[in-house]
Amino acid sequence: MVQKLVITDVDNTLLGDKEGLRVLLKALGKHEKWIGLGIATGRRLDSAVSILKKWRAPAPDIWITAVGSEIHYGESRSMDKVWRNHINHRWEPDKIRKVLKKTKGLSMQPKSEQRDHKISYFVDSEKAPGRREIVRLMREHKLAVQVIYSHDMFLDILPLRASKGHAVRYLAMKWGLELDNILVAGDSGNDEEMLLTKTKGVVVGNHSDELAHLKGRDNIYFAKQQYALGILEGIEYYDFMSADD
Ligand code: GLC
Ligand code: MG
Repeated sequence: MVQKLVITDVDNTLLGDKEGLRVLLKALGKHEKWIGLGIATGRRLDSAVSILKKWRAPAPDIWITAVGSEIHYGESRSMDKVWRNHINHRWEPDKIRKVLKKTKGLSMQPKSEQRDHKISYFVDSEKAPGRREIVRLMREHKLAVQVIYSHDMFLDILPLRASKGHAVRYLAMKWGLELDNILVAGDSGNDEEMLLTKTKGVVVGNHSDELAHLKGRDNIYFAKQQYALGILEGIEYYDFMSADD
């Protein structure tokens, strides 16, 4: 029975340092009976599967992909259809694309990155409006969405109920886990809202500037180490692998 979960972003958090990854996986492996492993990534499922294979990382118990708009489980990667239906609430993709079509500095990411519940753009940060302005525009058109900027380069529009953080809270509820028993780790903008959940948050040492303003928050530990070793540093900081809490 899984009593705790480690849920980590993939690019530049779990992956980035081969040796560190090996050390982290070995440490987690000792507790695999009661600590589950999940990933939470902006990638699509098939792309998450192939990058983990490339790094020889084992398949996680939980796959949160497309910035939290899709959830799959285990080696068979069976889809959580309840989640899919839940987030579909008030989702109007055609209208969103239409409203953002004329916005300066935004260009559509390739088709393969457009998902049923994720619309993604490349951002030219010199020309594009900031996040606030996009939020305002969405409100003005009565569109209930999440607006997520990452690396000053990517913009994802998701249903109001979808995000990495929402997906983590949903899983906690589904599995009857306290948020306290979930540790989340990330490095960039699309991890912010997940880090702000009442879980144990870890920001790896190589994080992008956009997360710097989270410093000093309760429940968000900034590791000195980078990538997987940063996650491990956070696990140790919270004493997360001890069974007695
Ligand atoms: C990944 C996805 C991309 C998304 C970005 C930020 O790179 O492939 O579509 O915009 O993450 O969430
Ligand atoms: Mg990342």
